[in-house]
Amino acid sequence: MRTMIHHMKYIFVGLGLFLFTGNILAQNEWVVPEDKVGNVAPFEFTDATIKTGEKLYNTNCQSCHGQPGKENYIALNPIPGDLAWPEVQSQTDGELFYKFTEGRGAMPSFKNILSADDRWALVAYLRTYKADYVQPSTEMAKAFSGAAVLLNTVYDAAQHTLKVTANEMGDAGAAGDPAPGLDLALFAKRYFGDLKLDEEKTTGPDGSVTFMIPTDLPGDTAGMLHCFVRVVNNDDYSNVKEEITLTTDQKADDYSLTEKRAMWGTMKKIPIWLLATYLVVVLGVFGTLAYIALMVRKIYLAGKQNDTN
Ligand code: HEC
Repeated sequence: MRTMIHHMKYIFVGLGLFLFTGNILAQNEWVVPEDKVGNVAPFEFTDATIKTGEKLYNTNCQSCHGQPGKENYIALNPIPGDLAWPEVQSQTDGELFYKFTEGRGAMPSFKNILSADDRWALVAYLRTYKADYVQPSTEMAKAFSGAAVLLNTVYDAAQHTLKVTANEMGDAGAAGDPAPGLDLALFAKRYFGDLKLDEEKTTGPDGSVTFMIPTDLPGDTAGMLHCFVRVVNNDDYSNVKEEITLTTDQKADDYSLTEKRAMWGTMKKIPIWLLATYLVVVLGVFGTLAYIALMVRKIYLAGKQNDTN
C-alpha cells in the first residue's frame, strides 16, 4: 500500500509536467486560418523576384532572423528562429505569407509596410533554402484586381494638404466611378525605409481623402519631398500606388553625404573634425621642417664662427 502511494506521487508529478509542457507547446504553435493555408503567389517566381526578395529580407527581416541557414537570429521570446529550418520550410507558401503579413507578438506585421507582391517576393527568396521546392501553380491565385483602382492627387501647398481621390478604372484606363471605403496611407521616401505621414484614412462616398502634410518635414536640398500614396489593409489593391513630389519650405540644410556618392568632394561637405585633424597634421609637418632648417642654420653659423676664430 505504501509503495502504491509512493508511485502515485510520481505519476502525478509526471502528469503535471506533461500538461505543463503541453501548454507551452500549444502557446508556441502558430495556427494559420484554413482559408489562408492554400494561398499561392499570383505570379511566377523568377531570378529577379528572388533578388527583390533577398533585398527586402536584408532590410526588413535580417535584424531579427539573421542570415538564413546561419542560425544567427537574435534572442527573443519566442525565438524568431532561422527561416531555413525544415519546420519553417515544410509550411505552405500561404502559411509563410500569412505569418509575415499578420505578425504575432514580437514578429511585426508587414501588411502595411510591404505590398503583396513584395511579400510574395520574400516567399520566393526564402524558398531558395528549400532544395526540393516547386512553386504551386499561379492559376490557383485569386484573380488580381490591383489595376482596377486609380489614384489622383491634388496638392495644396498653401494649406499643406494633399487630396487623394480613388476611382475605379473605367474604359480604356479612364477614371470611372468613385471608390469609397478604401484605406489609404501617405509615405515620404527616405533612405532607410519610408516614413508614414499623417494617419491612414478611408475614402468617403466621393472616393476622396485629405492628408495633412507636416510643415516641419525637410525635403531634399531643393526643398522637394518625394512621397507616395498607397492602398493599405487590402491585399487585392496593395500594389496601387501613386507617386508625387511636393515642394516644401524646408530645404535640407546639410549636404547629404550619400548623395551622388561623393564622400567629401567639396569643402562644404567635409566634417569639421576631419578638417581640424588635417590642419593639425599639415602644420605639425611644416613646423618640424622649419625647426630642422633653423637648427641646420645654427650649426652652420656656429661652424663659420669657428673658422673665423
Ligand atoms: C523584430 C523582430 C522580427 C523581425 C524584424 C521579423 N521577424 Fe519574423 N519572427 C520574429 C519572432 C519573434 C517570431 C516568432 C513569433 C511567434 O512564434 O510568436 C517570428 C516568426 C516568423 C515566422 C514564422 C516562423 C515559424 O516557425 O513558423 C516567419 C515565417 C517570419 N517570422 C518571417 C519574417 C519575415 C519574412 C520578416 C521580414 C519581412 C520577419 N519575419 C521580420 C521576429 C521578427
